[in-house]
Amino acid sequence: MSIMEKHKKLERNITLLGAAAFVTVAIGGIVEIAPLFWIDNTIEKVEGMRPYTPLELAGRDIYVREGCYLCHSQMVRPFRDEVERYGHYSLAAESMYDHPFQWGSKRTGPDLARVGGRYSDEWHVQHLKEPTSVVPESIMPSYSFLADTDLHVPTPGKRLATLRTVGVPYTDEDIELAEADLQAQGNPDADAGTLAERYPKAQQRDYDGDPKRLTEMDALVAYLQMLGTLVDLNSAAAQEDLATEKGR
Ligand code: HEC
Repeated sequence: MSIMEKHKKLERNITLLGAAAFVTVAIGGIVEIAPLFWIDNTIEKVEGMRPYTPLELAGRDIYVREGCYLCHSQMVRPFRDEVERYGHYSLAAESMYDHPFQWGSKRTGPDLARVGGRYSDEWHVQHLKEPTSVVPESIMPSYSFLADTDLHVPTPGKRLATLRTVGVPYTDEDIELAEADLQAQGNPDADAGTLAERYPKAQQRDYDGDPKRLTEMDALVAYLQMLGTLVDLNSAAAQEDLATEKGR
């Protein structure tokens, strides 16, 4: 039987064709999917990444609640114009503790992945209260109510415990101390205990200019000020270049 005749037989028998098509597609599927069961993680770990402190996490929850992601992305793409404007492109590991991640798909305003430390706390507070007072052409809405709203996180420990179930490595101590950590980070006079050891680079201060109260503004600014600051990008970049050279 010539190959043409064999093929004719295959094409004219619906069951045979179906079975052959299934086998072919299954091989492709197995090659793509099977390795994922044997590797620990698809994200390369980088030095410096840590879970959010309870105060930063509360700020992040406000960011999500207010829909900031509708106008702001948090993902610097590896293109020259973006890297020149925002800094080193985002690494996958930088959003490994984000549930859900805030990459976004719309940039009415600028990308915020590396906004931490770029402006003072006062600038952020002023900008969030009345954006046009610092950027006259701004179309960003005002969020002044955040400064008048006491921060209310009913069960910070449970919030952390929930994230732990999806893989964020909070320790029992982190969960136990969540309420104390939350209060201490926004108060420069408080004894923060081991906060800075458990959360390296955590910044303890009054963020909103009103040291007497812990407000939603404190939490949101604490979050904005740490965005993109955890990883030492020079060393992370060096690691990546090395990996590329090795022909990863
Ligand atoms: C309707 C769209 C819109 C929404 C919603 C919005 N922003 Fe903006 N944002 C902008 C625009 C436009 C700019 C650029 C002009 C300016 O700086 O005000 C901006 C600028 C910023 C900047 C300065 C960034 C930089 O690098 O200069 C920060 C920080 C910021 N927004 C945070 C937030 C936060 C936090 C929220 C949610 C509470 C938010 N924005 C919601 C449109 C928006």
